[in-house]
Amino acid sequence: MLFRTLILQASALPFVKRFVRESRLFRPIVRRFIAGETLDDAMSAATSLVDEGFRVSLDLLGENVATLEEAHAATAAYQQVLDRIAGSPQREMINISIKLTALGLDQGDEVAEANYRDLLQSASKSGTFVRADMEASEYTARTVEIVERVHRSFANTGTVLQSYLYRTDGDLERLIAAGIRVRIVKGAYLEPPEVAFPEKADVDAKYLEQAKKLLLRGHYPAIASQDELLINRILDFVEARGIEKDRFEFQMLYGIRRDLQHRLLAAGYRVRIYIPYGEAWYPYFSRRLAERPANLLFITRSLLHK
Ligand code: FDA
Repeated sequence: MLFRTLILQASALPFVKRFVRESRLFRPIVRRFIAGETLDDAMSAATSLVDEGFRVSLDLLGENVATLEEAHAATAAYQQVLDRIAGSPQREMINISIKLTALGLDQGDEVAEANYRDLLQSASKSGTFVRADMEASEYTARTVEIVERVHRSFANTGTVLQSYLYRTDGDLERLIAAGIRVRIVKGAYLEPPEVAFPEKADVDAKYLEQAKKLLLRGHYPAIASQDELLINRILDFVEARGIEKDRFEFQMLYGIRRDLQHRLLAAGYRVRIYIPYGEAWYPYFSRRLAERPANLLFITRSLLHK
């Protein structure tokens, strides 16, 4: 946890941001986590993964836009993604993940909700599912409320809950009761101990407990993690309880633990790969670096060998 805090704090410093964004030295490691900068890049990664048997979720990177115009531009860009999916022969295997702060949550709940509804309207024509990612804890309550409201008109949406937040048990019950699809994750943001478990062991224990609840009572849940030990325990649970393989899916991030992604697929489970792409890759990239000290070693090694 200390490593994560240090990396997330350092990556927010303006000179670090500028250096990482502008230096070509970082490009190879950025490309390990991000499919590219354009929709073509993302569709090409999606096509290859679907050909291998995976499902995918496209995430056009960008968050916390500063103006209404930017929120509308992000919504328009997502409309283009939906059009491309609608025209793809693989459309049943492709969905999208959005961030409400990209659609204008900082400009007002009503702004983000209106843009979100527009996207859902288009997505429902091609039967595409749209998931609202969960962002920092200052947005959790508003995200849950907005998703609940729009879900009354559009069944093709769901959201994400983070096991590191103390409030998640309550949100989980609320979303299960409303029949809303939940992706359960550990949580990727820097949160204070007033709102989130500071110890990784507590987060892992909560994750397992909440994943099991979702598998038993949730509505087509997504178990999203790269944690092999946890996934093994979930597989034991699924087998012991006789939970059918088409009642849920595993989700994993593009470029991380590809061996595990293939192992689950080969065992007959549904596996969806979350494909981030776009020019605004820096915040996503920082969160991935902060998750694992080895990523920083990898970067240091590749910089030294240039
Ligand atoms: P953990 O961090 O304990 O890692 C377990 C093991 O996985 C590591 O030991 C390593 O082997 C591997 N691993 C994990 N991260 C790695 C990395 N970056 N590089 C290399 N190896 C790595 N979060 C959030 O707050 N809101 C959201 O909406 C989402 N959405 C989302 C979608 C999907 C499909 C996934 C898989 C994850 C998210 N997350 C997220 C991120 C999530 O909260 C969490 O930060 C990461 O998944 C890392 O946690 P793990 O469960 O993998 O365990």
